Amino acid sequence: MKEDENPFVVTGRIKPEYFCDREQESARMIKLLCNGNNVVIRSERRMGKTGLIQHCFDHKKIADNYYTFFVDILHTTSLKELVYDLGRAVYAQTVSHGRKLTQRFVQVLKSLNGKFGFDAATGLPSFNITLGDIENPEFTLEEIFHYLQQADRPCIVAIDEFQQIAKYPEKNIEALLRGHIQKIDNCHFIFAGSERHLLGMMFDSASRPFYKSADNISLDAITRDKYVAFMEEQFQKRRKALPTAIATQIYDMFEGHTFYVQKLLNETFSNTAAGSACDEQTMRYSLKSIIDGNDSYYREILSRTTVRQKSLLYAIAAEGWASHITSADFIMRYRLATASAVQTALKKLRDEDLVVEADRKYRISDRFFGLWIRQYML
Ligand SMILES: Nc1ncnc2c1ncn2[C@@H]1O[C@H](COP(=O)(O)OP(=O)(O)O)[C@@H](O)[C@H]1O
Ligand SMILES: [Mg+2]
Repeated sequence: MKEDENPFVVTGRIKPEYFCDREQESARMIKLLCNGNNVVIRSERRMGKTGLIQHCFDHKKIADNYYTFFVDILHTTSLKELVYDLGRAVYAQTVSHGRKLTQRFVQVLKSLNGKFGFDAATGLPSFNITLGDIENPEFTLEEIFHYLQQADRPCIVAIDEFQQIAKYPEKNIEALLRGHIQKIDNCHFIFAGSERHLLGMMFDSASRPFYKSADNISLDAITRDKYVAFMEEQFQKRRKALPTAIATQIYDMFEGHTFYVQKLLNETFSNTAAGSACDEQTMRYSLKSIIDGNDSYYREILSRTTVRQKSLLYAIAAEGWASHITSADFIMRYRLATASAVQTALKKLRDEDLVVEADRKYRISDRFFGLWIRQYML
C-alpha cells in the first residue's frame, strides 16, 4: 500500500485491496465459469460490471487456469468493427501470453495474412491493421474462434456492452455468434450490458438465438453497511477519518451507485488533510467542485435539447425519481405541454441516454448532472 495513493479508484483496473465487496457476485461468477457456463451480467451503467469482470479475471482460480480476453464493444456499429475489436483484444492478450501463442494466432488468421504479426525490423509483435483490412468479417470471425478452440488452456471471453450487436444493421449477427459459441467447447463467455430492455430481448425471449444460453447475474448497488464500512476503513488506513454520518450521506446521495460514490469519495479523500477527520463542509466542497468541473459539458448538453425536452429534464431532476410523468398532475405541476408531448420528449431523452427508467420511474442518468440541474437551473 502506497501511503499517498488515493484508495478510491475511478479509472482503470482496481487492485483487490481497493475493491469493495461484490463477494457473492464474484464467487457465483467464478463458480459458473469454472463449471462451464456462460454468464450474462446486467446492471445499470456505472454500477460495476466491468470492474467485477476484471476483478474475477484477477482471481487466482481464473488467472492460473484460463486465458482471459476482454473486449468492450460499446462504440461498435457493425460486424466488421466487432471482428476488428475482438481480433485486436485477442491479439493483445495473446501477446502477453508469449511468443509461441502469438505466432499461432498470426498463422491461424489467414484472412489477414501478412497484414499483421511481427515487425520485420524490430521483431516485436504489432497489430497494425485497419478496419478496411477486414474484408470478410464472417471468415475472420471463424478464424478467431478457431484460434481460441486450439488454445492450450481453456479461455474466457468477456464481451462488454454486448447489447450493441442487436443494433447492427446486419440481421443475422446473433445467430452467427451463437453458432460459434455453441460449437466451441474450451471457451466460456461473459456477456455484460446496461441496456436492460435490449439484453432482455436477447436472452429472455424464446425466439432469439441467445435464449437461455447464459446464467444471469444482476448487479445492484453494494449494500450500505458494506460500503460505509469500506469507506471508513480506507480512510483509517491512511490516518484520516470519515465519520459514519458523512459516509452514510455520501452513500444515500447516490443510492450507493458505485461510480458516483467512488468519484465523490476520491475527491473528498484528497481534500481531507492527513491526520484529520473529514467534515461535512469538505464533503460538500468536494461535491461542488466535481459538479462545477462539468459545467461547460452540461451546458453543451442543454444547448442541444429543445425547450420541451429541457422542461421535462428539469421536472425529472426536481423529483429525483419521477413517476406518473404523463399524468395531468405532473404536467400541471411542471407546466409541461401535453401527455403526448411528454412522451415524445421522453423518448428523445432516453434515446440520448440523458434519462433512465426503472419500474416506470425516471431519473437523470448522470447523477452529477441531476444535481447540477437542481443547483443551477431550478
Ligand atoms: N467493487 C467496487 N469497488 C470500488 N469501485 C468500484 C467497484 N466496482 C466498480 N467500481 C468503480 O465504479 C465505477 C463504475 O464501474 P464500472 O465497472 O465501469 O461500471 P459498469 O461497467 O457497470 O458501467 C468505476 O469507476 C469503477 O472503478
Ligand atoms: Mg462497463
